[in-house]
Amino acid sequence: MIRLTKLTGFMGAEIDGVDLSRPISSDLRTALQNALNDHHVIILRDQKLSREQHKNVTAIFGSLMKLPYVEPLPDDDYIIAVLKETEEQGTGVFGGEWHSDFSFLKNPPAGSILYAHEVPTVGGDTLWASQAAAFTSLPEQLKEFVTGRYAIHVGAPYGIKHAPPIDAQANASIRMARNNPEADREIQHPAVVTDLKTGRKSLFLNPIYTTRFEDMSALDSADILQEIYRHATRPDFSCRHQWKIGDVVIWNNRTCLHYATNDYDGSRRLLHRTTFTGAPPS
Ligand code: SIN
Repeated sequence: MIRLTKLTGFMGAEIDGVDLSRPISSDLRTALQNALNDHHVIILRDQKLSREQHKNVTAIFGSLMKLPYVEPLPDDDYIIAVLKETEEQGTGVFGGEWHSDFSFLKNPPAGSILYAHEVPTVGGDTLWASQAAAFTSLPEQLKEFVTGRYAIHVGAPYGIKHAPPIDAQANASIRMARNNPEADREIQHPAVVTDLKTGRKSLFLNPIYTTRFEDMSALDSADILQEIYRHATRPDFSCRHQWKIGDVVIWNNRTCLHYATNDYDGSRRLLHRTTFTGAPPS
């Protein structure tokens, strides 16, 4: 009932012929859930969604989640504005390094949905990389190393690896809490997680939030993490989306990493993001 076109060999699919603003039948719900399970990232273009509709679409995939540490829209606790203003130049961008959203939480989002309101004429693409494909083809020695091992994730500074100092953030469009002891404490997750719906295993490590392996120092973990990231973010396992207004992109936050490109200084870009929960990573 849905028309689906795969985007690459390992991940991503575009779905046509669906108007997400209309009531969603249980068959369509199931088809969308299956598409996300199979392809990690699904893209639906030309949508016109109110905030309520954006949240209703999110609830197809899990319970809506309120994100800590990032200011939501003033009148909606469940939506954050991923915004870069025209005058914000020469600075970091939210999500501008490979990551899994908020992996430093005990139960990080199971998935996220971005809806494009305003986009640059060129630039501001988002990339995703399948961590299921990355795990499957991980060299045997590394596979043995990560299997059964835990890694430590820490929140600071919440989505921007090389964030400007707090005073320079005064005019930044995304306001983030800093030095929050709860977010800055160490949380551990398995380095390899199993998707409860598909049984597929994925790497669950990322360069923004993972600081070290549980039984090792940050210094001793660094080279191995770098080697894993080089493999995990190979173009072979990834897809790239060039945004148009009205695009809705839904992704599995446990089976892929994503990366916001920062190549559009001088243009305004506004996406609204919701997140949904699932069982904790295991
Ligand atoms: C994010 O959710 O990390 C932001 C992605 C983007 O702005 O492209």
